[in-house]
Amino acid sequence: MTILLIACTPDEQIKDVTLPPEAESKSLEEIKIGFSMDTLQEDRWFKDRDLFVEAAEKAGVEVEVTVANGDDVKQVWQTEKMISEGIDVLVVVPHNAESMAAIVERAHDAGIKVLSYDRLVRNAEVDLYLSYDNEEVGILQARAMTELVPKGNYVYLGGADTDYNAHLMKQGVFKVLKPYIDKGDVTVVFNQWTKDWVPEVAQANMETALEVNHQQIDAVIAGNDATAGAAIEALAAYDLAGSVPVAGQDADLAGVQRIVQGTQNLTMYKSIDDLSERAVELAIKLALNEEIQEDRTINNGKINVPSILLPPVPVDRTNIKETVIADGFHQEKDIYQ
Ligand code: GAL
Repeated sequence: MTILLIACTPDEQIKDVTLPPEAESKSLEEIKIGFSMDTLQEDRWFKDRDLFVEAAEKAGVEVEVTVANGDDVKQVWQTEKMISEGIDVLVVVPHNAESMAAIVERAHDAGIKVLSYDRLVRNAEVDLYLSYDNEEVGILQARAMTELVPKGNYVYLGGADTDYNAHLMKQGVFKVLKPYIDKGDVTVVFNQWTKDWVPEVAQANMETALEVNHQQIDAVIAGNDATAGAAIEALAAYDLAGSVPVAGQDADLAGVQRIVQGTQNLTMYKSIDDLSERAVELAIKLALNEEIQEDRTINNGKINVPSILLPPVPVDRTNIKETVIADGFHQEKDIYQ
């Protein structure tokens, strides 16, 4: 068996897989991963898809990718189909954290383990959760904003409430804001989820926040760069873009460009290379019933899910080179064009 592994897997990590007897029959090239994605709406998801497929090919395993475009019924149907056609492990980015619980049970009935990728499936016996520390994303956003604006009116544009990441991020933000709110220094004058993370929804919410507060807004914390960009559009209509600090997430190209231009102050960089490579490595171990050492657990309403959470990196105009450019996440010429 050892010869087989070294032969087809150039990647270091895979070498330490010791196969339990029942997995003897499966060789790597026989493994098929089902990767069920919610959307390709944001830039990052294209990277997730392409880098995941690249890492799977490099590891010598097969992968099938489906995209549900925010449609729960479609995502359930797509995963049902992959399960019935015989995948060895399911990797899922749920559109709706609750709706995909049924699929986890279905997969287990077929002897297939489930890895929750980036977003956690709620109320189901998920085998492993791999993501960035989403609560930490919120904590780091709020810390940076309270340093810039220790007193004033805040707007919170949360992510989609169907996405458990949005809840974890919000938890982190309000953990940091609480003492400021209790002291009366900070008032959160507007706090709304953004349905399906749709930027137009965030822009409309920001316009309402500006109207009902007579433009007396001192800081904005948004769930990601796409919604931060939408908030900045709304601020620009009142000539406030660049004077009201805004925090986002994802380090997508437009977000980093706005940081250079000065209309956005912060984003959170999450290397998709690291996440996707780790996911393929772990998916293979799940398919081979290999033991996995988790960092911690997160309760998803049903169980304490074994979890591996990577650290997000705050990016502002002082460290763009050392982070997103150094990693090749974006090209310098594209950022400073
Ligand atoms: C979240 C993810 C973010 C974000 C968002 C919108 O779950 O962690 O990176 O972009 O989805 O798709």
